[in-house]
Amino acid sequence: DKKLHQDHLEAHELLSKFFHHLLMNTNEGQKSLEYMMQRGFSEEQLKSFRIGWALPSWDFTSELLKKRGFDLSSMEQAGLVIKRDDGSYFDRFRGRIMFPVENDRGQVVAFSGRIIEKTSDEPKYLNSPETPLFQKNKVLFNYHKARGAIRREQSVVLFEGFADVISSNEHVPNGIATMGTSLSNQHIGMIKRLTNQVIICYDGDQAGIEAAFKAVRETAASGLEVKVAILPSKLDPDDYIQKNGSQKFRQEIIDSSVSIMAFKMHYFRSKINLSTEDGRLHYINSVLKEIAVLPGAVEKELYIKQLSGETNLSIAALSEQLSSITPREN
Ligand code: UTP
Ligand code: MN
Ligand code: MN
Ligand code: MN
Ligand code: MN
Repeated sequence: DKKLHQDHLEAHELLSKFFHHLLMNTNEGQKSLEYMMQRGFSEEQLKSFRIGWALPSWDFTSELLKKRGFDLSSMEQAGLVIKRDDGSYFDRFRGRIMFPVENDRGQVVAFSGRIIEKTSDEPKYLNSPETPLFQKNKVLFNYHKARGAIRREQSVVLFEGFADVISSNEHVPNGIATMGTSLSNQHIGMIKRLTNQVIICYDGDQAGIEAAFKAVRETAASGLEVKVAILPSKLDPDDYIQKNGSQKFRQEIIDSSVSIMAFKMHYFRSKINLSTEDGRLHYINSVLKEIAVLPGAVEKELYIKQLSGETNLSIAALSEQLSSITPREN
């Protein structure tokens, strides 16, 4: 109901402020602040995204909420505290760097907390659970803040992670991210409300390439115009920016994003061992199958030429092979 909803929003707003204060201004937050600075985040970035620190305590948050008049069973529903068997409550987020997550109206509806030190079984990022305020498949990180830039640039850049959005923000203000889930139809709907063009910029590792392949299929099927920004294989966007700066990232990665077809060639190359004859044949056939479903003759010829240059096979041989392929239904 309305009162509960308002309660949950107020609690998230209060905690965002508190966590942020703890990170920026207290001794307890100093080590985490140093960690973030070490990673290359500026004070300005930490402020603008209201990054915070949740103390490594079982009851700091619950005590604070109680003191401010919040009912802990309502806070449990909001995903902020967890109920024990004996009926008492403890903090969900303990000893984590806190990333507030806003809904499409700019209200904080969830948190994601990152550990600083690698431990065995704790997840790197702990997210709020699904709550009345927060459904993962309907929330995109930075969507509210980016919407002006998305309209202005007539495109949106889709990242995997929080760090990617934040470190690129100065030169790529139209960046958003899903929160560790795949892109949902609702996410795609949110994008289409703002723009018709999407640039997918996922991590350069194999998991990122696979996820990008899937996201390309889904966004293209929805009618969006899709390009893909390709990263060097060991880097994610944030890694690239810490190494080369965000201006270079904008120019060399985002502004150099490629067509779906060029990305698919990259995708096949990442999976297929090109040092064997078998692998090369497999690669050529995979690419030809994609060329076969391209709508235009000019497009077909363009990529046949590219494939020919890449493989040292004649355009005539590749064209003949192509004509023997029946386009599969999409
Ligand atoms: P990554 O594993 O690529 O993390 O997951 P990252 O963004 O590069 O994180 P840093 O740079 O090490 O801090 C991409 C995104 O998937 C979600 C987060 O939103 C993360 O940003 N994720 C990842 C989770 O929700 N939980 C996890 O345990 C890991
Ligand atoms: Mn606003
Ligand atoms: Mn990743
Ligand atoms: Mn990453
Ligand atoms: Mn990263």
